[in-house]
Amino acid sequence: MSGQAQVSLEEVVRRYGGPSGMQALGPVNLEIRSGEFFSIVGPSGCGKSTLLDVAAGLAVPTSGSVRFEGKELRGEVPDGIGVVFQEDASMPWLSVRDNVAFGLRTSGLPKQEVADRVDHAIGFMGLTQFAGHYPAQLSGGMRQRVCIARTLVLRPRLILLDEPSMGLAPQIVEEIFEIVAALNREEGVSFLLAEQNAATALRYATYGYVLEGGRVVAQGTAEKLNQLEVLQDAYLGAANGASGRRALPRASRYAQV
Ligand SMILES: Nc1ncnc2c1ncn2[C@@H]1O[C@H](COP(=O)(O)OP(=O)(O)OP(=O)(O)O)[C@@H](O)[C@H]1O
Ligand SMILES: [Mg+2]
Repeated sequence: MSGQAQVSLEEVVRRYGGPSGMQALGPVNLEIRSGEFFSIVGPSGCGKSTLLDVAAGLAVPTSGSVRFEGKELRGEVPDGIGVVFQEDASMPWLSVRDNVAFGLRTSGLPKQEVADRVDHAIGFMGLTQFAGHYPAQLSGGMRQRVCIARTLVLRPRLILLDEPSMGLAPQIVEEIFEIVAALNREEGVSFLLAEQNAATALRYATYGYVLEGGRVVAQGTAEKLNQLEVLQDAYLGAANGASGRRALPRASRYAQV
């Protein structure tokens, strides 16, 4: 993929409620290269999940185009993209092992290959000793790991990860991000991450956008974004124990970096 963007969004606008409905996103332009860790940060309702839905191919943009590995997406998630939703998508009636194997049930892969992939995903996410447990027997952080493992068995080249920190204690969030960073580094999986917890999301990112009201109000390397005073005021307090979920100041106060 060298030289070519793995994901590209061009002038993407997404409205809810038809062409004249509420504009939740855009216009947004975005390019992710293979192996990159791209973070989208911003307050609740700023359009992060909408952006991820469009980038995944789940939602068709009202206008503009979305491409993955050169192919235009039109309402279907292509092979190669894994999505970990904001909501807990684990299935309570299945064990951890069966949750993780679920996406491969119609793959036609030989049994041994399925078993190897499931073992690998469960192992990578540190779930081996919980393989026989059911989601209700696990902590929120462990369930989040199950959801990532469910995607991992499909061998995605890009994972879209929506607010993995939600509802989790800071220590658990760190553990999950360490695993995600290892996936990025060791397995070469690209990430598009949406987070309100900007402090953590930017720490692992190669590049980031700050979204407000559906628009990109600041962008740059994590290092540069971390230097923005308004971002530090609004978000990076999370690193010092504050919630990190206060509303961002008005967009006009941002500088492009
Ligand atoms: N299905 C929908 N129908 C109508 N409006 C929607 C729908 N989904 C989202 N919205 C609206 O679009 C805007 C962006 O929502 P979105 O879920 O993308 O934000 P978000 O940044 O992911 O928020 P959060 O951090 O709370 O998850 C919000 O104003 C939201 O109310
Ligand atoms: Mg969201």
